[in-house]
Parts: sequence; structure tokens; C-alpha cells
Amino acid sequence: MNVKTDIVQGDCVDELRRYPNDFFDLIVTSPPYADRRQHTYGGVKPEQYVDWFVPRAAEFLRVLKPSGSFVLNIKEKAENGERHTYVLELILALRKQGWLWTEEYIWHKRNCYPGKWPNRFRDAWERCLHFNKSRKFKMNQESVMVPMGDWADARLKSLGKNDVVRFDSQVGSGFGKNIANWAERTMAFPTNVLHLATECGNKNHSAAFPRALPEWFIKLFTDEGDWVLDPFAGSGTTLEIAKSLGRNAVGIDILSEYCEMARESVLGNQYQLLEERARYAVADPETANRVHQKKRPRLPPETPGKPRRAKT
Ligand SMILES: C[S@@+](CC[C@H](N)C(=O)[O-])C[C@H]1O[C@@H](n2cnc3c(N)ncnc32)[C@H](O)[C@@H]1O
Repeated sequence: MNVKTDIVQGDCVDELRRYPNDFFDLIVTSPPYADRRQHTYGGVKPEQYVDWFVPRAAEFLRVLKPSGSFVLNIKEKAENGERHTYVLELILALRKQGWLWTEEYIWHKRNCYPGKWPNRFRDAWERCLHFNKSRKFKMNQESVMVPMGDWADARLKSLGKNDVVRFDSQVGSGFGKNIANWAERTMAFPTNVLHLATECGNKNHSAAFPRALPEWFIKLFTDEGDWVLDPFAGSGTTLEIAKSLGRNAVGIDILSEYCEMARESVLGNQYQLLEERARYAVADPETANRVHQKKRPRLPPETPGKPRRAKT
């Protein structure tokens, strides 16, 4: 499938103004966390985080389709011995803005750093907050089913009398189950906890999330040919996965070096060809056209002050 991937440099609050209402099917992103990475892309003070985020979320709300989903990967920091509350305040502010807070998925980091703190243990999870514009939204639950695994073997081997009929909860919760319904099945619906290892080692971005994270949400909330937005795109992980799954994608990042990195990883050779074509277009349009036709010329070493020209 032929899909489009656009990588835009700028502040997402400004760049999104160019997109129409109700355009994207999914927004999946990991924003700058409060006060983190000050030496790379700056940090927003925890006290100012909600005020900083809300105008951006207003644009997200405008460009998301009513059937779409917004997944926000975020985790509050600890300060002066306690967890900051800005993420909780952000959830309340987004609800006031008109978002429905549908679910909270947990990304369990299977390989988090070891460490010791006087008042807590190492942090092994992050939030993936799921917001919607309307109660009816696209959700392809079958696309993320998991093997039944050992639970099925152990539990289904010896079915009791309460398992073969619908058995209403003994605690009056109103929920009931008929476990025998699952006897012949090999796949089950997953939980809301995603057990994924971090993968920062293979990216030149200080806060890349693992590919499996956007992959899971893209499969769950979109179909082929849909539009995915990552307004804080970083190294382009979301865009890379969206493209590989046949989804169109737009990524925005405020730093030009991250946009470059995303172009390299998402568009790869295609991007290098375009770059080369642009370089030749001024000095040598004929070679530029040949580059465009994917016959890549050999390049001589660069001479200072002279544009590189292809040996033809
Ligand atoms: C946590 S990182 C995203 C990492 C990304 N998920 C990946 O896998 O590489 C947040 C990104 O937001 C970018 N950013 C910060 N403020 C921004 C803004 N106002 N608009 C767009 N991008 C911004 C930063 O440059 C940074 O790359």
C-alpha cells in the first residue's frame, strides 16, 4: 500500500493549525516530560506543565476524528520525596477541555534500571493515557489478541460445576463468567498492562519509546490507510511503525536534528535520493533527474568551495 509520511519541524501548536478539523484517526505520542532533558530539548516546569500542554491538546482535539483515539505516554517525576501531581492535574484539565478519559494502560518496563532510593523502589512503569472525543470510537480488539498460555491449561483442565454455566459473581459485583466458553480457544484478549522492554540503545534520541508501544496502539485503534499523528515525534518511532503497518503519518518535532533523524530512519534511501536530487538540481539538473530515477551516480570526494558533481 502506498502511504504518505510527513515530517514537519516546528512547535506542534503552530504546525497543527494547517490541518483540517477531524483529520487524524489516532494521536499517539510521548511529550517532553516536565523538567527532563533540559540539555537536549528543554523542559517545562512541573508547575507550568498543564498550562503548557492544554493549548496543544486543544489542537489535538480539533484535528482528531470523533471516532479517533489519543494515547499519551507520560509519567510524573518524583520531587522532594514525593510524586508530583501534574499528570493527575493534566487528566482533570483534559476532561474539562472535552476529552473523555477512557482508560489508563500501563507500560511495564521489563528491563528498567536497577537502583536504590531511600523511600521507594525502582520505577518500572509509565502511563499510556487513552482519551477520546466520543464514547463510540474505532477499536480493533482482535488485532492485539494474545495466546491463552499456561492459564488456560491449568484452569480449563478441571472445570467445576460453576464453570460450565454462567456463574454470577459471589461478591455481588454484577459480573458473571462462563469459563467453559474459553475451552476451545487459543487466543484471549490482552490486559491493560503492556510488558515491553525499553530500546533506547539503538536510537540517537534520549527518550525514544520502544517500537512495540506505538505498534500496539496503531493496530488497536486504526486500519490500513488511516492517518496517525505524533505531535512530539522525536526520532520518528511512531512514523516508522505507522509506515510499516500501511498507515499514513504526520510527525512534528521542534528540533531540526530530530526531524532529520526521523527522516533518515523513516524515509531512508528515499530521503537520501530526494536530498541528493535537491543538491544537484541547482548545478546539474540532468544528473538531478537521473538521481531521481534511482540511478545513483558515484560521487567524487568533496572539494571545499566546489559543489560535488557526479561522475557519469
Ligand atoms: C519524549 S520525546 C519523543 C520521543 C519519541 N517518542 C521517539 O520515540 O523518539 C519528546 C519530543 O518532543 C519534542 N518537542 C518538545 N517540545 C515540542 C513542541 N512544542 N512541539 C513539537 N515537538 C516538541 C522534543 O524535541 C522531543 O524530541
